[in-house]
Amino acid sequence: MENSNNNWRMPRIGDQAPEFRAMTTKGKLNFPGDYKGYWKILFSHPADFTPVCTTEFIAFAKMQEEFDKLNTKLVGLSVDSLSSHIAWVRNIKEKIEWEGNKNVDIDFPIVVDLSKNVSTLYGMIMPGESNNACVRAVFFIDPTDKIRAIIYYPLVLGRNFDEIKRVIIGLQTADAHDVAMPANWQPGKDVVLHYPITTDEAVARTAEEGLTCHEWYLCSKKLQ
Ligand code: BEZ
Repeated sequence: MENSNNNWRMPRIGDQAPEFRAMTTKGKLNFPGDYKGYWKILFSHPADFTPVCTTEFIAFAKMQEEFDKLNTKLVGLSVDSLSSHIAWVRNIKEKIEWEGNKNVDIDFPIVVDLSKNVSTLYGMIMPGESNNACVRAVFFIDPTDKIRAIIYYPLVLGRNFDEIKRVIIGLQTADAHDVAMPANWQPGKDVVLHYPITTDEAVARTAEEGLTCHEWYLCSKKLQ
């Protein structure tokens, strides 16, 4: 962990995910080392036993199977204690019914970060928003442990979990097919090709079968 030296800066897209060891509701975690070969979503929430966070945890838990199918591990984090995390997930299961969901198991680990070491390492505490709670940060980390996307939400706005799933599918699709995703792309929709990097490639592309070229630099195609 390197957050105590002067060279610390917020992790950025393209960086290797900072390593940490911490206690969680599922035991000790060595991150990202324990999840070699998986995609990972590391997300922070402001506090246990709060309304928006509770709805977010239910939303994430309901999508756990979908993330499992996407070879993606979920890891939550806040600056609360282990006993608070445990009491909260028990309370959610036993007492909360939200939008027809009840008896919800939170089956992903929640990191205990009372020291704020991990949240500081990942830049999850933004003092203009709160000095003592994390914002709603979401780090998307690929199987090589590289950070591929980051989304931040403020305290008052619950995350869009369909978007979080779309980001994982979009990144996996980009990697598998060497393509890019246009605005508002959804799985199954046409993708776009990277822009040509030579004049010959630009000419060849407009004549290539299976492509819809709006211009030499904007060509889309269906994935088979
Ligand atoms: C909430 O989850 O509702 C919440 C938590 C901290 C600050 C504001 C809202």
